[in-house]
Amino acid sequence: MTSIANSAGVGPRFAQRRVLRIVFASTSGHTEYVVDALVKSLKRINPSWGVEATMAEKAQPEDFLTGDVLLLASATWNTGSTEGQLNPHMWGLLHDKAKKLDLAGKLCACVGLGDHRYFYTARAADHLEHYIEAHHGRLIVPTLKIIDEPHGQENAVAAWGKQLVDVLKPVDRC
Ligand SMILES: Cc1cc2nc3c(=O)[nH]c(=O)nc-3n(C[C@H](O)[C@H](O)[C@H](O)COP(=O)(O)O)c2cc1C
Repeated sequence: MTSIANSAGVGPRFAQRRVLRIVFASTSGHTEYVVDALVKSLKRINPSWGVEATMAEKAQPEDFLTGDVLLLASATWNTGSTEGQLNPHMWGLLHDKAKKLDLAGKLCACVGLGDHRYFYTARAADHLEHYIEAHHGRLIVPTLKIIDEPHGQENAVAAWGKQLVDVLKPVDRC
């Protein structure tokens, strides 16, 4: 069996079907739309990838540890009248259910949505990144921010998906 060091710096790994685990929170459907667009583009770029998407309200902390890459996606809300917060379901998951989770170097990526009319635009992205870093995950690509209506931003989502695939490509080629 072949092994190779990948460009994300995770050291030698054996060739296998790559699985992306997505945990997302969406209230009016925008984040869900972005996740769907991402999954479609990933399947086009690399059909061998497996993708498992779970809504934050149904996710368990153990879900974070399954798959090769963990993707967290959430929009920004003004929970408790304070702008720039995570979707409440994502907040509950990260700061309650999964607050003691050790990601132990897991490869991670984040997607944050928001609206330019709010002062703390798309601040969910920062909260997600902070969680990953504080829980010892490893961000492998810059976080994707989708500001305003996501319909029409499919190309940006697809370009980001390609970046994600490219970072992991050396292993997938084995
Ligand atoms: C009540 C409410 C509060 C919001 N607060 C913020 C905010 O503080 N910052 C921001 O960038 N966007 C804010 N938004 C915009 C949403 O993040 C944006 O519409 C997003 O696309 C919604 O995604 P979702 O449908 O997946 O929840 C808010 C929207 C609503 C309706």
